[in-house]
Amino acid sequence: MAAKVECGVPTIAEFYSGKNIFLTGGTGFIGKVFIEKVLRSCTDVGDIYILIRPRRGKSVRDRMRKIFTEKIFDRLRKKNPDFELKIKPVEGDMMKPNLGISQTDAEQLSNKIHLVFHSAATIKFDEPIRVAVEMNMLAVRKMIKLSKTFKKLELFLHVSTAYSNCDRHHIEEILYPAPIEPQQLINLCSVLDDESLSKITPKLLGDKPNTYTYTKHLAEHLLMKEGKELPLAIVRPSIVTSSWKEPFPGWIDNYNGPSGLYIAMGNGMLRAFHAEPGATADIIPVDIVVNTLITTAWYTVISKPEEVPIVHCTSGGINPITWREVADTVLCYYRNMPLQQTFRQPASDILCKNKMLRDFWVIMSHHIPAYMTDVGLRLTGSKPYMVNRYTKLHKAVDTMNFFVLRSWVWTNANSKLVNNKLTTEDKEAYHMCPGSLSWPEYVEDHAVGMKKYVMNEPVDVLPSPSGYQTKMRNLGYTINTIMVIAIGRILVAQSEMASSVWQCVASCGRGIAETICEGVYNITSGRLQAAAHT
Ligand SMILES: NC(=O)c1ccc[n+]([C@@H]2O[C@H](COP(=O)([O-])OP(=O)(O)OC[C@H]3O[C@@H](n4cnc5c(N)ncnc54)[C@H](OP(=O)(O)O)[C@@H]3O)[C@@H](O)[C@H]2O)c1
Repeated sequence: MAAKVECGVPTIAEFYSGKNIFLTGGTGFIGKVFIEKVLRSCTDVGDIYILIRPRRGKSVRDRMRKIFTEKIFDRLRKKNPDFELKIKPVEGDMMKPNLGISQTDAEQLSNKIHLVFHSAATIKFDEPIRVAVEMNMLAVRKMIKLSKTFKKLELFLHVSTAYSNCDRHHIEEILYPAPIEPQQLINLCSVLDDESLSKITPKLLGDKPNTYTYTKHLAEHLLMKEGKELPLAIVRPSIVTSSWKEPFPGWIDNYNGPSGLYIAMGNGMLRAFHAEPGATADIIPVDIVVNTLITTAWYTVISKPEEVPIVHCTSGGINPITWREVADTVLCYYRNMPLQQTFRQPASDILCKNKMLRDFWVIMSHHIPAYMTDVGLRLTGSKPYMVNRYTKLHKAVDTMNFFVLRSWVWTNANSKLVNNKLTTEDKEAYHMCPGSLSWPEYVEDHAVGMKKYVMNEPVDVLPSPSGYQTKMRNLGYTINTIMVIAIGRILVAQSEMASSVWQCVASCGRGIAETICEGVYNITSGRLQAAAHT
């Protein structure tokens, strides 16, 4: 990424001063943090136009109003109570022709916009390929077409993913060859029906694990080809998780990726997870991602690099953490500060490298308890739900498997280059390097954030054991006892000697039980007789 940055270049805040931004995905996890940070740190920024669709009967204005009441905007609201005035919702839908934007809005955008940040996407790993193509590829095409009408356009920044090349181990900040010409895939989607498409999807994906990474890779190609007359930049974050520092530690609003699994570990449901414990967990805090978007745009516009900058936003090559460390920290936190609704106590260890062992523990500690609970619920006249919940959990776990069983090496030369060009003050204000991040503290803050902001539970008081929790704890003990007996019985059945020991223990147990019953009977009947005499 050869580039020149002259002396006397504007600071970040100076650069953004008066610039109008067009943002897609502004209602999403990264989008909200982006809006908050830009408005808080670049006070003279122009307006932020956000493409937003009406949803669940709510107009775009109502949706925006509701979003601005969220905790994420508290710090900004304190600094600038009128911050909403800088936000201009633009009604649209990435799936519609011309993005569903009205002619009037399109004209307004064409006269105003300096910077485009395209963040909207479907991040569902197992999305049917037709939807993934429409959202992650065709929407990029529509965005390019629209952006070509922007008279003052200085940059189109596309948010991709570090996993767009996850079929490779060593990944550089370059565009890798496409597995198929993007237009060929688009053509396939237009001629084949859903059933045929789903049949050929595994073949199309090749070594890619899902339609998300596949279409995000092809979107980069589509962008480079069809947007080649535009000033472009691509940022590739890895697994984006809660905020590290800003606007405050631990902010998160979703169950995506590992976050949902944290809750499943915390509520005691997830007890066996097929993962490579020593593999690097390439997680990256959302505030680092947002700072990288802001600084990459600044860098690209002021330095005009010859090639389109592709900037990795990853942690593993700089400050790695393993899945073992992540899981231990999360389990430890939720054991000390339990969630209010738990199925069982969080397990002490859940990672299984060996698939067979994991499958065994899934039967023992997921399926059996789930079926037993549902039988119990049926017997007590309640609606069973546990098997259903486990089916959903296993589906979520399956989509994560590919990413927790391997490690990748991403190079970070371009992100270092951008960071090095920042002034000392901007380096501090737009921290984009996870080098000094203390993982145990960060992962715990993420676990706290899940409890506080996603589950809406207090984090400074231990939940008082409710009737429900006592029931769940007792259920846990019962399940554990039954499983120990069942495993013991199976093992014992394998050997003659152990079988005789079992018979002996069982008959002793029976004898003791009979004696106790007799005693209890004698005592009670004695009491009854005594009571009858008085
Ligand atoms: N999260 C991660 O771990 C991660 C990692 C690497 C890269 N990325 C990339 O980062 C970007 C943002 O991810 P995120 O985590 O912020 O995702 P997110 O929370 O799921 O947000 C997705 C955004 O896209 C919008 N969107 C979806 N369909 C739309 C449609 N038909 N029309 C208009 N808007 C639509 C959503 O709007 P609604 O509110 O209307 O649904 C939402 O604002 C994506 O490009 C993703 O590929 C994310």
